[in-house]
Amino acid sequence: MDRIDAQNDPKAQEAAAKAVRKGGLVAFGTETVYGLGADATNSQAVARIYEAKGRPRFNPLICHVPNVEAAHAIGVFSPLAEELAAAFWPGPFTMVLPKRPEAGLSDLVTAGLDTVAIRVPGHESARAFLAKAGTPVAAPSANPSGKVSPTTAAHVAEGLGNKIDMLLDGGPCTHGLESTIVAVDENTVTLLRPGSITGEMIAGIIGSPPVHPEEHKQDAPVAPGMLKSHYAPDKPIRLNATSFADDEAVLSFGPVHHSGPVYPLSTSADLTEAATNLFATLRAADASTAHRIAVMPIPEDGLGYAINDRLARAAAPKDAVHEQ
Ligand code: TXA
Ligand code: MG
Repeated sequence: MDRIDAQNDPKAQEAAAKAVRKGGLVAFGTETVYGLGADATNSQAVARIYEAKGRPRFNPLICHVPNVEAAHAIGVFSPLAEELAAAFWPGPFTMVLPKRPEAGLSDLVTAGLDTVAIRVPGHESARAFLAKAGTPVAAPSANPSGKVSPTTAAHVAEGLGNKIDMLLDGGPCTHGLESTIVAVDENTVTLLRPGSITGEMIAGIIGSPPVHPEEHKQDAPVAPGMLKSHYAPDKPIRLNATSFADDEAVLSFGPVHHSGPVYPLSTSADLTEAATNLFATLRAADASTAHRIAVMPIPEDGLGYAINDRLARAAAPKDAVHEQ
């Protein structure tokens, strides 16, 4: 990798934008996790994303754009989608919409689907970089396939440092969970991946809660990337743990008594803080001398739903296919 640059520096943004336009790979900070970006209209560039991540399969990728106008150039918005865009963009919110064929997106980005996942990030300097790029930027999380998503520039450098052209340091991610993903058509909103824009918040805008994929997903996964073992540390993980063995590293939520290593998700049992710290604490616990990881119970409401979703994936058996 050539350089690590401050993401809020306009010169660095311009250099990164130029690298993207030339088919390069640029990692950049967002409010959720770091993304590994490439020009979404350039198949060779997008192929390099898969190569760098060592991803075993082609999953569709999220296209990042600087504003709603740029989103309209690649996706078809129903009035319902317009409402959600107005409410939650810029922000940690991704909509899967019918794609506009004339936008020239690489089939590698959409994995041959006739829909496209679009996000306008809340992170200001991410949007500045995207505006300068002038092309939609396809970006999965900037981690090697099967590893925990990166929430600092140092995590990215550790995992992918020698495989990317440029790393923009946007600071630590403030949300720490990947964006909420919904599929939106004329009259239905389906929650494909929970995140910090919660079902309750969506219901507040559209008047009813989003449909859950389980309600209509029997066989084919709706979001192909949502397979079980997704955010996998190397050590075995035990969830909802209320007592701990000496050889366990504990991810704590609220007060804890443990003689071994403790990595607080939140000492004050705050769900927002726990979401922000989730991937960094998983990573730290995985790197510790403990043999196993135990996670204290997280309440299943609001943001807790998304945190428990990620933890369940982290704890899934390792023989499940690693996708991300
Ligand atoms: O917060 C985020 O969303 C981060 C940052 C970098 O923006 N990105 C991210 O991307 O998490 P990735 O590639 O790790 O996850 C993208 C998810 C996958 O589960 C994929 O299957 C789903 O989006 N997806 C993308 N396009 C889709 C489509 N057309 N239909 C259904 N699911 C789609
Ligand atoms: Mg990912």
